[in-house]
Amino acid sequence: MRRAAPGALGRPSRYLLGVAISDDEIAQVRSATDLVGLISETVALKRSGQRWTGLCPFHPEKTPSFSVNAELGRYYCFGCRASGDAITWLRETHHLDFVDALRLLGERAGITLHDDAATTPARRERRAALDAMERAVAWYHDRLLHAPDARGARDYLRSRGIGGELARQFRIGWAPDEWDALARALDLSDAALVASGLGFVNRRERRQDALRARVIFPIFDPSGKAVAVGGRILTNVERSDGYVEPKYKNSPETAIYSKRRTLYGLNLAKDDVIRSGEIIVCEGYTDVIACFAAGLPRAVATCGTALGEEHFRLMKNFAKRIVLAYDADVAGQSAAASVYQWERQHEVDVAVARLPVGLDPAELAQRDPSALRDAVQRAVPFLEFRLERVLQGANIATPEGRARAGEAALYVLAEHPSELVRDQYLMVVADRLRLEVASLRPRVVELVSNPESRDARSRGEGAPGSRPPTTRPLYVRPSLPRPGLLALRHFLHGGDDVRRRFVAPYFVDRIQRQIFEALDEQRTTSDVIDDLERDGQVEASLLLSELAVQEAPDGLGESNVGAVVAQLIRAAVREEMAALSREMREGSAAPDVVKATIDDVQARLGWLETADGDVAEVDLRTWLEARERGRD
Ligand code: UTP
Ligand code: MN
Repeated sequence: MRRAAPGALGRPSRYLLGVAISDDEIAQVRSATDLVGLISETVALKRSGQRWTGLCPFHPEKTPSFSVNAELGRYYCFGCRASGDAITWLRETHHLDFVDALRLLGERAGITLHDDAATTPARRERRAALDAMERAVAWYHDRLLHAPDARGARDYLRSRGIGGELARQFRIGWAPDEWDALARALDLSDAALVASGLGFVNRRERRQDALRARVIFPIFDPSGKAVAVGGRILTNVERSDGYVEPKYKNSPETAIYSKRRTLYGLNLAKDDVIRSGEIIVCEGYTDVIACFAAGLPRAVATCGTALGEEHFRLMKNFAKRIVLAYDADVAGQSAAASVYQWERQHEVDVAVARLPVGLDPAELAQRDPSALRDAVQRAVPFLEFRLERVLQGANIATPEGRARAGEAALYVLAEHPSELVRDQYLMVVADRLRLEVASLRPRVVELVSNPESRDARSRGEGAPGSRPPTTRPLYVRPSLPRPGLLALRHFLHGGDDVRRRFVAPYFVDRIQRQIFEALDEQRTTSDVIDDLERDGQVEASLLLSELAVQEAPDGLGESNVGAVVAQLIRAAVREEMAALSREMREGSAAPDVVKATIDDVQARLGWLETADGDVAEVDLRTWLEARERGRD
């Protein structure tokens, strides 16, 4: 699908999925989008000159090769060559189609696309759910802060160390003890109520709230949009029939909420996570809040689900060190095989904060905030933590006790995929149990090579049904003539006086020329990349994507540009001279004319970088253009 060239009538609309969106709207949304802000929601970006760089989310890496050019609104990875603009970004990272991506960007920028009335039911549902959720969170929060019936909730929160400031920061709320207070107050439609999971329609066709008489912990996406709520009862009440209300009730999975992919608190923790390179993972909402209160504003929690593959995918974009702050028993039971696999796959380190047994971060923080800070600071690698637990319980007074502990420790050790790591800890184990390394090593080898000999508990425990990492075909870069690349960079970054110095016949490389011609039509870089992509010009679109995020070349000054132009002209002239010689041999050009031309051209090449350079440049340019016209 090739778009028509720009003309007086403007560019045609693009029809996608039966939805017409004009290119003007696309351009408007694009220019209103802050790409650095958008990408920062999932990748830690650091400023570096005119660009922003970070770890590429599209391929595993330890040193940043992912680059964002804010001005041009383009990203590019020098490692895997992933590239694109805000729309591509959303399509790839959120698995959205073009229209959805555009609409999401429009929403962010406060731009309503003209055809929104014609939007699909799925999109309407998402929109309605987000809207309802935001209003509900605001309403619940207002109740907590101001309603007389929320006094109990306020007292409860305060008793747990959560005062007004934290309540405001986390937008904590109160759902009154009524059947339909929320649905009535917001006048939510049945559809919005159900789509958001905030309520339902009961058997008597009455609308009913999902949560009542509960403290509300709103759950946000990384950009701070409310997507769900968790509600906690104030006091455990056992009914006469023995039924115990669950402590927490959470929003169901909806079009806007997937708990596998959500981390409570990430919207608030993001900055400190990026700054420190560390993210603290807790079990509960209140633990996160307690961490913030204790001076650790980089904590998140899973939302009523175990830490899983998708959480790692999300976290690895923000930090390389993950500290589990769980009650020691819970941490000890984490599926080790999965943790090691995720460590490898996502190139993160998982450590465990050693909290006292039976205490979660909230409880510890309330007793002694500095103890929580210490535990996080002194977190140990996951394997070390597991070994410690085995060794702590050992009775090392007897040979039998030491042998038993040794066997248990080796099980734990054997789960780790790295021999190097295993070997280091093997020495620790041997030392602690006063056993010989030499006698332990064969057993480890046996356990590793024959997992069947492990006990059922450690065998494949919680093996994640993970997908293979997304890989993109590695594009092999052809060797491209350097002066042309440099010229394109000057052209991209230079002002009119610089741009005027370049013409198409200077570009002997087909791809570079293609890019130049498109840019020379005064189209924006994004448009050009779009068109190239749509035409299947993969190499050209990748090259331009790469150039777009590169720094402006050193010195856009006269002499530098002159040198680049001279190099281009020399390369182009070389080709033309060769063509000329061919024509002479074939008899289509008169030898005396050719000889005179060659003399003329060579003389001018000699002047190029002298005081008469500008005259020579114009002459050669004219000659090259004429040669090209003569060929057509
Ligand atoms: P916890 O029982 O540890 O709760 O459950 P908590 O967060 O420490 O709460 P407090 O401190 O007693 O107030 C940890 C997490 O498990 C989920 C919630 O996400 C909770 O934060 N959970 C727990 C539920 O979803 N439902 C429940 O009934 C209990
Ligand atoms: Mn708790």
